[in-house]
Amino acid sequence: MYTGSILEGDSNLSDERKKWSESIDAFTKANLEADSNFFMHQALSTPCLDVLEECEGIYIINQQGKRYMDFHGNSVHQIGYRNPYVIEAIKKQLDIMPFSPRRFTNLPAIDLAKKLVSILPSPLNKVLFAPGGTSAISMALKLARLVTGKQKIISWWDSFHGASMDAISAGGEREFRAGLGPLLAGTEHIPPPNSYRPLFSGVTNDNAYAEYLEYVIDKEGDIGAFIAEPIRNTDVQVPSKAYWKKVREICDKNNIVLILDEIPTAFGRTGKMFAFENFDIQPDILCLGKGLGAGIFPLAAMVANESFNRFGNVSLGHFTHEKNPLASVAALSMIEFIEKNNLLQSTQQKGEWMKERLNEMKAKYPLIGDIRGLGLLWGVELVTDHETKNKATKQAEAVLYNCLQNGLSFKISQGNTLQLAPPLIITEKQLADAMDILESAIEKASKSI
Ligand SMILES: Cc1ncc(COP(=O)(O)O)c(C=O)c1O
Repeated sequence: MYTGSILEGDSNLSDERKKWSESIDAFTKANLEADSNFFMHQALSTPCLDVLEECEGIYIINQQGKRYMDFHGNSVHQIGYRNPYVIEAIKKQLDIMPFSPRRFTNLPAIDLAKKLVSILPSPLNKVLFAPGGTSAISMALKLARLVTGKQKIISWWDSFHGASMDAISAGGEREFRAGLGPLLAGTEHIPPPNSYRPLFSGVTNDNAYAEYLEYVIDKEGDIGAFIAEPIRNTDVQVPSKAYWKKVREICDKNNIVLILDEIPTAFGRTGKMFAFENFDIQPDILCLGKGLGAGIFPLAAMVANESFNRFGNVSLGHFTHEKNPLASVAALSMIEFIEKNNLLQSTQQKGEWMKERLNEMKAKYPLIGDIRGLGLLWGVELVTDHETKNKATKQAEAVLYNCLQNGLSFKISQGNTLQLAPPLIITEKQLADAMDILESAIEKASKSI
């Protein structure tokens, strides 16, 4: 069994985590123990960090009333937790029809599909819902096979598209694949455009990685789909516009379906409703999820080119909760809330401020090797040495646990990248407070390089 480093998130088995677990009160400890006793242990899970009681706005709140500003939120928290606008709509729907069986339809589901199509460019006009992001990915992979008649898929190494067998096959994270083979046949991987170290020094030269895609298409044959996140969410890698334009061109030329996985990044995270809008391209299939359910319901969607609507005899999804009216009402009011409150514009403004503040920190602390992001999604990469870019994993953990102590939660990716994704409803004051907590932790950790 592979026991290598955890790249997707921070380790739940590290010494720093052990220290954190030892420092918590007896009541919480007892509940964490109960969690550990009853839940099957898996990577990135047991032991949990804390026991939560409540969530509200930008905060998750533990049983003692300690409030953490949530800069991770599993990417469901664009409009904050327990958003009153959404809660009111759900309560109304709850009293009328909380479930709609398959073979029937309902107005909330139709309205949501209509709304998604109206805010996406044509021909992204055909929708299917699913109860989770992984299931939306599964549908997209099936559809791409049917459309092209070609079985093989290319994705990036290091990518994550869900934890089911087909999604880990298409994904490129060793942690999720190890020991589980044989995986789905015909899944090929290419280096992600962030393997380009030149980007680290500010020079964008990722076009070569798009050309590498063409090389594999040519050598391998039978490639039906290329799947990737437009911006890699976990360690916040932002390819150039030129990269995406080249990828789009290559897919068109080779009759390959371009599937973009925006499960964590859609709905305003990057300052645009959809992340692909930052790159002047559009996918053939778009996968949505996480925040689609407004941080309340598990809901995902596949939105596809309408010309792919030719497989009425094939079950692409067939999910029990396919047209859930409660989830649909939550999603509809989430989108309305973004629109009514001009959240895209304010995300761009707050994002610019956050970028400036992080760059000021970078100028002050050599521990910070790189700052990258868009809108309210930022990655802060910590290094012990700028020349070698040696990962400052110990310092990253020290920063995390210091911030948790002081009421700021986020995730570490690739061992040394702090991923900072605040709810888009965060106020300027709250954002400034969070940056103060972060800076103080980075200052402390800098002393141990
Ligand atoms: C990029 C990406 N794709 C797919 C998924 C899977 O979504 P879900 O956990 O809802 O199945 C995730 C979840 O973290 C994700 O980050």
